[in-house]
Amino acid sequence: MQASLDLANAGFKVYLVEKSPAIGGVMSQLDKTFPTNDCAMCTLAPRMVECGNHINVEKLTYSEVESIEGKPGAFKVRVRKKARSVDPDKCTGCGECMESCLVQNYAYLEPLPVEPLEFAADELDEVNRVLEEHASEKGALLPVLEGINARYNWLPPAAVSKVSEALDVPLARVLRIATFYNMFSFEPRGELMVRVCLGTACYVKGGARILEAVQRELNVKVGETTNDMKFSLETVSCLGCCGQSPVMTVNDDIYGYLTQGKISEILTSYI
Ligand code: FES
Repeated sequence: MQASLDLANAGFKVYLVEKSPAIGGVMSQLDKTFPTNDCAMCTLAPRMVECGNHINVEKLTYSEVESIEGKPGAFKVRVRKKARSVDPDKCTGCGECMESCLVQNYAYLEPLPVEPLEFAADELDEVNRVLEEHASEKGALLPVLEGINARYNWLPPAAVSKVSEALDVPLARVLRIATFYNMFSFEPRGELMVRVCLGTACYVKGGARILEAVQRELNVKVGETTNDMKFSLETVSCLGCCGQSPVMTVNDDIYGYLTQGKISEILTSYI
């Protein structure tokens, strides 16, 4: 994509041939990229949009190059476009054709024997209360998960399976949505979330050293919670205040222009 854009910006007409039905490749399936943990989609999406809109780039998706003949300046390329059975010029990506398609493939897996998840009665009442609060809403799944997360600071497995049952949404779908957002955790978390930014701007300004200082101060590693359930530690890829890097947050409080020396004072102010 970047090569196409560079050529297109230099004034060449570019035919971007892609074997699969959409551009983006494996990166579009990734959450983060190594080594900076930057959000893959944040890097990829602007290029995908630019390729889609650039006047000099013609995308030939679901197509393959069959042969190339000729010499520099006068190549002849034969491209096979595979049948999509939809008019790509009219496609808006709404997905309705999938719903109406006569060919349906269902994956069936033998259900595994699962131990019933135990929930204390008062905890169950809490989950029921959150469910009732959002009962009349369309697309209640996310607000319900947020409500439970706000109550417990994590998503207990029994609550997740109760939500799946009550909203009649398959458990796999609930988990797929819940695991997409890093505000949800499947491990008990402390009362205070410490998030140290390791996005590019913060990393360059010493984010990794800030993380070391926080780990030392709290005596936990990333993803862990202190024994008193006070602090949990996470890293994030950008907090949206790169101008103040390196940055960390403690719940909703933002701390910028950090140095290792400031960490102890900041954290002890919460004790
Ligand atoms: S990279 Fe840290 S706030 Fe943006």
